[in-house]
Parts: sequence; structure tokens; C-alpha cells
Amino acid sequence: MGALEGKVGIIFGVANHRSIAWSIAQAADAEGAQLVLAYVERMERFVRDLATQLSRPPLLIQCDVQDDAQIEQVYTQIREQHPRLDFLVHAVAFANREDLDGRFIDTSRAGFLTALDVSAYSLTAVTRGALPLMTDGGSVVTLTYLGSVRAMPHYNVMGVAKAALEASVRYLAADLGPQRVRVNAVSAGPIQTLSARGIAGFSEFLSSMSDRSALKRNVEVSEVAQASLFLLGPGASGITGQVLYVDGGFSMMGG
Ligand SMILES: NC(=O)c1ccc[n+]([C@@H]2O[C@H](COP(=O)([O-])OP(=O)(O)OC[C@H]3O[C@@H](n4cnc5c(N)ncnc54)[C@H](O)[C@@H]3O)[C@@H](O)[C@H]2O)c1
Repeated sequence: MGALEGKVGIIFGVANHRSIAWSIAQAADAEGAQLVLAYVERMERFVRDLATQLSRPPLLIQCDVQDDAQIEQVYTQIREQHPRLDFLVHAVAFANREDLDGRFIDTSRAGFLTALDVSAYSLTAVTRGALPLMTDGGSVVTLTYLGSVRAMPHYNVMGVAKAALEASVRYLAADLGPQRVRVNAVSAGPIQTLSARGIAGFSEFLSSMSDRSALKRNVEVSEVAQASLFLLGPGASGITGQVLYVDGGFSMMGG
């Protein structure tokens, strides 16, 4: 029996086959979970294609996390098919391309607010929507990056958003603990995805990272998915409010 057998989970952030969210969806499907995939309109074609690969047909729902009405609609639709929700994966981030290049000091007010809204506030918004359905406790996992605690090249405003996201993880964990809802983050090492390609110099950065990590390699997306699955599942029942680094040991290295 799979670790998520009989569990129902929603995953925000599948864009294409490279998405970390897609790897988590495949891993959760393999462990027996029934999934709901929430995606943005422009990715619909890719998500519908991918969905056919899952062993249980997922419920597919469009959702722009900047729109409260769309978030509400997601949970209305889930309620029609599922009486309960057991887990939520938030793998959503966005910043304007011009804010992921050049100097941080040039970040516009609008660019700052967009990055923080999509990449940080949305965790609270989608978790609040899910809460009434998490009647038997639940687990929420989001994806973050080391740029939250270190000034990484070109990460700029996204680093500020990830810092807010990680603080949100702690406040949500404290808030929702009494309802037996756990909230954690996985801090992934760099992986070639659509979003990552928006960061200036990402490919060069990726190749220079592996040498400086303890494992002397970059992490695989499947490794990030397995760690996320652990946090979602019963093995992590005593863990909440934490950031788990899945980065080949890059973050703890000294020189
Ligand atoms: N790829 C990496 O190197 C890396 C490393 C650490 C953390 N992460 C984080 O992992 C998460 C997933 O990113 P990814 O690398 O898989 O890239 P991705 O591009 O596949 O996923 C990002 C997702 O965010 C969605 N999104 C953007 N704006 C949205 C909006 N307004 N409403 C709803 N969804 C929206 C996109 O449609 C996409 O599905 C992000 O939070 C990212 O910051 C990525």
C-alpha cells in the first residue's frame, strides 16, 4: 500500500514536464494519491497532456493565484467531488524578467508587489481556501530557494519573496498546528525549469554549483519530489514549520 493511499491532494504549479510540481504529482500518484491539479490558463494544453499519464484521472482546475475568486472556485469544484482534502503542494512563483537581472536596487514597486503576491502571499491564500476541507488534519508543502537567506546572483526580488514565503511557513504552521495541519518548505537546489530559465545566467550558475556542493553534483527533480512526498506523508507527522534543504549539501558548505 502506498504512503498516500486514499489521500486527496491539490498541487498548484504544474506548467510542463520539467515542473517540480509535475515530478511531485508523479511521485504522489505512484504512492496512491488522488490528485487535483491547479494551473494557469496558458499552460492548459501541457497540463491536460500530462494528466493522461497519471494512474487516476486528476481533477483539473484553472487558477491564477492572484485572483481570490479563482481560488474560491477551485475549492468549490473540489467540494463537488471530494468531501475532504489531505494535502496541498504550492509550487508557484513569478517575478518580472527585468527584476531577475541587473541590480536589486532597481526593483520597481510594481515588480516587488507582483513577486511577493504570486510567490509568497499566494501560499496563505490557497492554504486558507483549503483549510475547511482539511477536516482530518493535513499537510502543506511549498518550494523555496536559498536566495531567501543569501544574496544569490540575479535572484534579487525573488529572494525577498522566498524570505517572506519561509516566514509564512512558520506563521501558518503555528496557526494551523492545533487543527493538525502541518506546513513545511523544501528548499531545492537549482533545476532547469521554465521559471529557472527566467533568471539571468541560470545555466552558467547551474554548472558552477555542482562543484561547490558536498555531493559534487546538482540535485535531480525526482529527489526534490521524494523529499516533498516525505513531508506530505505520515513519516513526517511530527514535523512542521521547517525548511528542508534538498541541495546536495550546497547550503552548509564553508569555503
Ligand atoms: N527550478 C529551480 O531551480 C527551483 C529551485 C528552488 C525552488 N524552486 C521553486 O519551485 C517552484 C516551482 O518552480 P519550477 O522551477 O518548477 O518552475 P515552473 O515554471 O515549472 O513552475 C512555476 C509555476 O508557477 C506558476 N505560476 C506563475 N504565476 C502564477 C499565477 N499567477 N497563478 C498560478 N500559478 C502561477 C506557473 O504557471 C508554473 O506552473 C517555485 O516556487 C520555484 O521558485 C525552483
